[in-house]
This record gives sequence, C-alpha cells and structure tokens, in this order.
Amino acid sequence: MLPEYRRGCPADLSAVEEIQRQAPQAAHWDPRDYLSHELWVAADGGAIAGFLVLRRLAPDECELLNLAVAPASRRKRIASGLFRAAVTNFRGNVFLEVRASNQEALTFYKYLGFQEFSIRRDYYSSPPESAIVMKFHSC
Ligand SMILES: CC(C)(COP(=O)(O)OP(=O)(O)OC[C@H]1O[C@@H](n2cnc3c(N)ncnc32)[C@H](O)[C@@H]1OP(=O)(O)O)[C@@H](O)C(=O)NCCC(=O)NCCS
Repeated sequence: MLPEYRRGCPADLSAVEEIQRQAPQAAHWDPRDYLSHELWVAADGGAIAGFLVLRRLAPDECELLNLAVAPASRRKRIASGLFRAAVTNFRGNVFLEVRASNQEALTFYKYLGFQEFSIRRDYYSSPPESAIVMKFHSC
C-alpha cells in the first residue's frame, strides 16, 4: 500500500521523535518545535514511516529543516514522496544544509534535483564539520 503524505499533528510527535532517534545523521531538535513550521509525515498503514520539516522564509523561499525515514522503510521512495508533497504548491527556491560526510543524503538530494550551492565551514559541532548548502528550484 502506498503511504499517505499529510501534515503532521501533535499525535504524530512520539513517532517522529523515535524516527529522529534512529537517524543520527538528521538534525535533533525538540519535535514539538516542528509544529511551528510545516511538519509532513508519511503514514504507512497507520504507522509513521518518515517525516520532513519545512520552514517558509518568504513567499518564494523556504528551508528544509529536517528529514528522516525509519531505517526499515528506506529506499522505498518515502523521502521522495514527502518532499514532493511538501513542495507541490510551492514556487521558488528550497535551501538546506547537510553534513559534508552524509554521502547518502547528498546522493538522495541530488537525485531529487538539488545542486550544491555553497559550503559553510565548521558549521556543525559534535562532531565539528562543514555543511554543504544545497538549493532546489521548484517551478
Ligand atoms: C536520506 C534519507 C532521508 C532517504 O530516504 P529514502 O526514503 O530512503 O529515500 P528514497 O527511497 O526516496 O530515495 C530516492 C533515491 O535517492 C537515492 N538514495 C536514497 N538513499 C540512498 C542511499 N542510502 N545511498 C545511495 N543513494 C540513495 C537513490 O537514487 C534512491 O533511488 P533508488 O532507491 O531507486 O536507487 C534516509 O536515508 C534517511 O532518513 N537518512 C538518515 C537521516 C538523514 O541523513 N537525513 C538528512 C539530513 S540533512
């Protein structure tokens, strides 16, 4: 069965927290804060298989704040579906930062059509690392 991509709600936050816990490469913020932005979830047969958080910066600019899929649900195009659902009605640039060592995510974002835009040296801590800034144009 195909997952349903929908906006997340307070009842989804414990599942979002668990997926985040299982994804050390993802950003680790308090999931309750995601409700202040656009939280999207992939609901797969009643369970949450992945989530995405988008922050609107301007009518034509937004930032992908976080994205993770449960380990058992990866490589099933769930992250692709979440991203497409989140930007369906958006026209403009989507930016994100990703750890330079996160080759899996870099490959995934390039698959979606993101391009490397710039590097932020020593952007991350614990462990310290540079960020690759990526940009996608949604039209
Ligand atoms: C990155 C991540 C979100 C991808 O989720 P996903 O649902 O598995 O991705 P999809 O199935 O939509 O992948 C689509 C395509 O992207 C590429 N891709 C995705 N994961 C990949 C991987 N681990 N290695 C290489 N290519 C990958 C492939 O081309 C894939 O198509 P294919 O499976 O037909 O080859 C997931 O691996 C994840 O949660 N990682 C940990 C958290 C993380 O790094 N988040 C990003 C923080 S910036």
